[in-house]
Amino acid sequence: MIVLKNPQQLTKMKVAGEMTANALRVAGKAIEQGITTAEIDNIVRHYIVKQGGIPSCLNYNGFPAATCISVNNGVIHGIPGDYKIKNGDIVSVDLCVLYDGWQGDCAATFPCGEISLKAQQLIDATREGMFQGIAAAKAGSRLGDVGHAVQQYVEDRGFSVVRQFVGHGIGKKMHEEPDVPNYGKPGHGLRLVPGMTITVEPMINKGEADVKTLSDGWTVKTCDGKLSAHFENTVAITEDGPVILTVPTQEKQ
Ligand code: MF3
Ligand code: CO
Repeated sequence: MIVLKNPQQLTKMKVAGEMTANALRVAGKAIEQGITTAEIDNIVRHYIVKQGGIPSCLNYNGFPAATCISVNNGVIHGIPGDYKIKNGDIVSVDLCVLYDGWQGDCAATFPCGEISLKAQQLIDATREGMFQGIAAAKAGSRLGDVGHAVQQYVEDRGFSVVRQFVGHGIGKKMHEEPDVPNYGKPGHGLRLVPGMTITVEPMINKGEADVKTLSDGWTVKTCDGKLSAHFENTVAITEDGPVILTVPTQEKQ
C-alpha cells in the first residue's frame, strides 16, 4: 500500500528531512585522515539527539549504529567500527532521522584528502545521476522514467548500477512502498502522483554491478573489490514537480 501525504504532513517531513540533511553535513565535516568510522557515528548520533531527533537506523532490524558508513569497495550498510579513514578513501555515509513522527533518509559519498580522478568521476556521476532521477520524478511520470534517468546518466559515463538494492517509499516508516529502482524502462512502472514520498538513492559501481553481503548480515561490498558510491535524498512528488525534503539548513554544526 502506498501512503500519500497531505501538504501538512509534507511540511513535517521537510522538517525531519532538514534535520537529517544537517546530520549528514556534520558527518561530512567530521571525515578526516585518522578518524575511525565509529567516531564519526558517535559525533552524528550526538548531533541528532541534541536536535531532538531519533537516530532511526540504530536498532533498526538490529542495526547497531546511527549511521551506515561504507568505505571504498563498501556499497551500503557498513557498520561503524575501528577502521581509520585514510587519505584517498571515499566514504559513503547513510543515515535516517525520525522527528515528530516522520522519517528523513539521505546519504552522500565524501572524499578524504586527495582521491584518484576515477574516484572523483564516480562520485560526481553518482550525485548527478541521483539529481537526474529526481528531476524525472514528476507527477504523471512513472518509476521506470526515474530509474532510466539514473541508469542512462551513469552508464553513459562507464559506471554500473547496483540492482540488488533500490530506493523506497518513506513516511512515518523508514521503508514504505514502492520500491524505487535505479534502472528501468521509460514509460514503464508505477505512475507517480502528488503526495508520494520516495527516496532516490543510486548505488553506483566503478566496475561490475554485482554486490555481496558479508557474514555480519549487513555490510554490502562490491564483488570485484572496486569502488562504489552512494547518494540519497528524500523526495516528495507534488503538482509543482519533485521537491527534495533532505535539504540542509545549518551552515555550522
Ligand atoms: N538508510 C538506509 C536506506 O537508505 C537504511 C539503512 S538500514 C539501517 O534505506 F538498518 F541502517 F537502518
Ligand atoms: Co534509503
